[in-house]
Amino acid sequence: MCGIVGYLGNRDAADVIIKGLKRLEYRGYDSAGVAILNGKLAIRKAKGKVKRLEEILEDKPVEGGIGIGHTRWATHGEPNDVNAHPHQSQNKRIVLVHNGIIENYSSLKKELIKKGYSFQSQTDTEVLAHLIEAIQKDLDCSFEEAVQYALKQVEGTYGLAILNQDEPDKIIVARKGSPLLLGIGEDEYFIASDASPVIEYTNKVVYLDDNEMAIIKRTGYEVKSIANVPQNKKIHELEMSIEQIEKSGYPHFMLKEIFEQPQSLSDCIRGRINPEDQSITLGGLTDVWPKLEKANRIIIAACGTSWHSGLVGEYLIEHLAKVHVEVEYASELRYKEPVLIDEKDVLIAISQSGETADTLAALREAKSKGATVIGICNVVGSTIARETHAGVYTHAGPEIGVASTKAFTAQVVVLTMIALELAKRKGTISDEYYSEIISDLLKLPQKVTTALKEFDKVKEISALFTYAPNFLYLGRSFNFPVALEGALKLKEISYIHAEGYPAAEMKHGPIALIDEHMPVVVLTTLSHTNEKMISNVQEVKARKGRIIAVTMPNNREVEPLADFTLEVPSITDVLSPLVTVIPLQLMSYQIAVNRGCNVDQPRNLAKSVTVE
Ligand code: AGP
Ligand code: GLU
Repeated sequence: MCGIVGYLGNRDAADVIIKGLKRLEYRGYDSAGVAILNGKLAIRKAKGKVKRLEEILEDKPVEGGIGIGHTRWATHGEPNDVNAHPHQSQNKRIVLVHNGIIENYSSLKKELIKKGYSFQSQTDTEVLAHLIEAIQKDLDCSFEEAVQYALKQVEGTYGLAILNQDEPDKIIVARKGSPLLLGIGEDEYFIASDASPVIEYTNKVVYLDDNEMAIIKRTGYEVKSIANVPQNKKIHELEMSIEQIEKSGYPHFMLKEIFEQPQSLSDCIRGRINPEDQSITLGGLTDVWPKLEKANRIIIAACGTSWHSGLVGEYLIEHLAKVHVEVEYASELRYKEPVLIDEKDVLIAISQSGETADTLAALREAKSKGATVIGICNVVGSTIARETHAGVYTHAGPEIGVASTKAFTAQVVVLTMIALELAKRKGTISDEYYSEIISDLLKLPQKVTTALKEFDKVKEISALFTYAPNFLYLGRSFNFPVALEGALKLKEISYIHAEGYPAAEMKHGPIALIDEHMPVVVLTTLSHTNEKMISNVQEVKARKGRIIAVTMPNNREVEPLADFTLEVPSITDVLSPLVTVIPLQLMSYQIAVNRGCNVDQPRNLAKSVTVE
């Protein structure tokens, strides 16, 4: 949610910032802006994409080696030119960009108005610029101290980058709840919300933690707490490559990421499953297995697609390891009263970005109640990854498309490995069954490659349903969460209303919607629920629904009922979500493309939701 980029060095700051903002545009894209400090402050900002800002800069260039930039995902005030960041203080000497929400902005604003400050925008952010100016004037203190005093008064979350015209060689950044890192080059520094804008210049980064600030000057940088205590920060080496964050010839990141799944799944499995003896090693969980083995219950907290993988996790862990699992929307778990979590519980927080505010809040809540918290994250070094007691990275590589695809399958694979290892430790799985699942897991990249071959058929079917106003997705057991995920994928990028249901639940309401215009996607795998599923398909057929069946070879019963079939390779039932989800991802993609939608940056969404 919102991208921040900053630069201090000898390059053209605006150039570095625009390039960086483009890489971060997936985080927010309703408006963008830059401020360049070259003796004087120059600001360019506008509603719309970074491209629009780039055009403005071509018309009215700004030169200088120090600057900050922002792509916004509006929380307070509509996306327009005035509300776009950066925001300036009254005397126009302090300018800043902000990611997050200043929750007490309204009371701070009232105080500032009383003191004679006038506001240009409807944002919560603008109060910060005026507040820093007011504090510096009132207390006659340094810029740095004014920032510290201001942040002590602020409730809410922030990633911040601030310039001051009176300090021509300095950027101050601060963080609480919104990610920010510092890239360290040769005589130059980069600031960014994530590593993608930095990677082409340097692989050395320092991650700021909550309540920390960095003062960056040409002569060096220092990190301290907001309370002014110097912090000794580790310099991390990034492992990501520039190719990983580019489109590699695909028209969209989403398509690239869908087709990357054979590779991302091998990366997720590699080094963790030993093909020789079929053992599983998850290095990040070594210390917490005893907790998992003794856990009263496992709580999974996540949002969106990650919540769907959590639901698959529930089926997997209960089925294999016989432990009670509760899957909670992270946003609900946090405010549930009373939250009966204690030290006998284990909470698994699942998050691609590792920055989702709701998920982070849920894990902090569980941690404060004594539970062991485990993270399943994709972004290395992300806040959730750092705040959990233990964890497993999904190793899916950077996911740029706002619609999550390869992160979902990698999360499900990690959950499968956890469920299998736990089952083995608890003695709840037979050797034969364990071995059957492991050998199919090792074949998974190949099976996903086969599933991707249906893309041409997906295109034909998508052409027929491009303008359908509604879609229904039905699945049972392990494939019920896939039905939810298929519906979410379609609605978020094509804006078609879609719902996912457990197939049998259809008759308790949604069946009323079915007529000859309703496409119904049914997930009919060769599982123990197949016969029941076929009966549900019959019920749809009897009401003339248009049936698109995702099916496995030799599922002869469904073929005569279906209007269209999309075949995925046979695989042991517990792993079936990993192949059935593939045609659903492809179909959402194709329908969105047919409708002329912006696939990678769907309206109103952002990749990393860092506000509650
Ligand atoms: C997925 O397609 C969505 N854009 C969204 O639901 C996402 O999964 C959710 O916001 C959670 O994100 P996270 O995995 O980064 O925590
Ligand atoms: N709350 C701020 C605004 O609405 C920042 C939003 C963001 O993170 O982009 O402008």
